[in-house]
Amino acid sequence: MTSTELAVVVLAAGKGTRMKSALPKVLHPLAGVPLIGHVLATAEALEPDHTLVVLRHEKDVVEPVVLQHSPDATIVIQDDTPGTGRAVEMALAALPADFSGQVAVISGDVPLLDAATIEAVLAHHRQMGAAVTMLTAQLDDPTGYGRVIRRDDGAVERIVEESDASADEKEVREINSGTYVFSHSIATEALQAIDSANAQGEKYLTDVIGWCVDNGHLVNAVLVEDTWIVEGINDLSQLAEVHALLNRMIIRGWQYQGVRIIDPASCWIDLGVEIEPDVTIHPGVQLHGATKIGQGSIIGPDSTLTDCEVGEQATITRTEAVGAVIHHTAQVGPFSYLRPGTVIMAGGKVGTFVETKNSTIGQGAKVPHLSYIGDANIGEGTNIGAGTITANYDGVKKHATTVGRHARTGSHNVFVAPVTIGDGAYTAAGTVVRRHVPAGALAMTVSSQRNIEGWVEENRPGTSSAEQAKAASARTDDTE
Ligand code: UD1
Ligand code: CA
Repeated sequence: MTSTELAVVVLAAGKGTRMKSALPKVLHPLAGVPLIGHVLATAEALEPDHTLVVLRHEKDVVEPVVLQHSPDATIVIQDDTPGTGRAVEMALAALPADFSGQVAVISGDVPLLDAATIEAVLAHHRQMGAAVTMLTAQLDDPTGYGRVIRRDDGAVERIVEESDASADEKEVREINSGTYVFSHSIATEALQAIDSANAQGEKYLTDVIGWCVDNGHLVNAVLVEDTWIVEGINDLSQLAEVHALLNRMIIRGWQYQGVRIIDPASCWIDLGVEIEPDVTIHPGVQLHGATKIGQGSIIGPDSTLTDCEVGEQATITRTEAVGAVIHHTAQVGPFSYLRPGTVIMAGGKVGTFVETKNSTIGQGAKVPHLSYIGDANIGEGTNIGAGTITANYDGVKKHATTVGRHARTGSHNVFVAPVTIGDGAYTAAGTVVRRHVPAGALAMTVSSQRNIEGWVEENRPGTSSAEQAKAASARTDDTE
């Protein structure tokens, strides 16, 4: 029987004026996923026969994101007539001519709404044989939402938008969540009948409710208990509030999975992150994108990891890392900057004030202090001296540096790429390595030190240095 067919319409054509942002509202990220991505995931979970997404504002930017999350969705482009009613009307016109089931309508700017809540509305709708069933909520502060106006006997009469509401109507705390289930045929008829005679000059979807009541069709409301589920995002303040709420839920979820999060208020974890048990997360940690953390690792304090893979029992302290792979028992920080393509093998170390990019630090190899390592391959067990720079850029192209296994390079070296240093080789302090260093060799480019005795007293007379030099030479004379 076709009457159990389900179409989901996602409304995302609006301008998002109140966001005051160049980025379309539904593309603003929430826990690493654009708002529209949250809503599309909910739509998909309903397993509808049709998913229709209504776009208009910045459609060329929004459409690819929609199709990335829901490849099978039908994109409907809203015309010049503004309003949620027109958006749904155009979506209905895009359904196959023989469609005859239910239509669930959800908003692209209500990201925490879950499939179970919509399923409850749908079940109630089918059971009652209603024309419309809408999801409503009682809010302490209903400002900005459409209010549900009921008759004296409690039955729903209509919805009034904030901008059209009288002072009395604004006192009503029951709001329209913007989530509804319609019977397809009645919604189609109603949307043809309603107009745009209101404060905003828009064709309101909410007017379908009043039209149904006036025309003797059954209208029901399902009241949601957890009001946070229906929080809509119209401005950046609401986005931040909803983000904080979602973040608390994400963190609690990981805590239930055995992740020790010391200070939930200062940690932000995106939805796509995966964390194994017995990980400790210190205050001030942000885990973004597709970051994965292996069992027993210790992250933070004050570290931001984006799209990183961390193995088991690794330690990452006060670090910024993007697109890095950190194998088990490796140590990073404090104060390290790992850029994309960094791979630290098991037991390796990248230490204080070290920046790495597109480089592999071999098993147990160490870059402990004050270095830049770019486009390099450091062999296992090698130690790179403090203050080493890979000069990987000749001004036009990037070049590679290869250091073999168990090498020991001196402090303050420059490796002028392309260059290779063999297994077990040493380099002296201050070496500028321009040519291949054979395995086991000691490379040095420094000329031997020359001391010009008495230079300071002669050339900087009267300075404090000259006085100290004089005093020192007097003492030396005494002892001689
Ligand atoms: C809407 C409801 C309001 C409800 C609130 C819940 C209407 C008239 N009002 O108000 O009763 O309390 O949601 O969050 O429906 N959109 C289109 N095409 C348009 C206009 C909007 O697709 O022409 C989309 C927007 O992109 C957005 C959604 O519809 O995703 C809601 O639009 P918005 O302007 O945010 O409506 P609200 O004022 O929040
Ligand atoms: Ca809204």
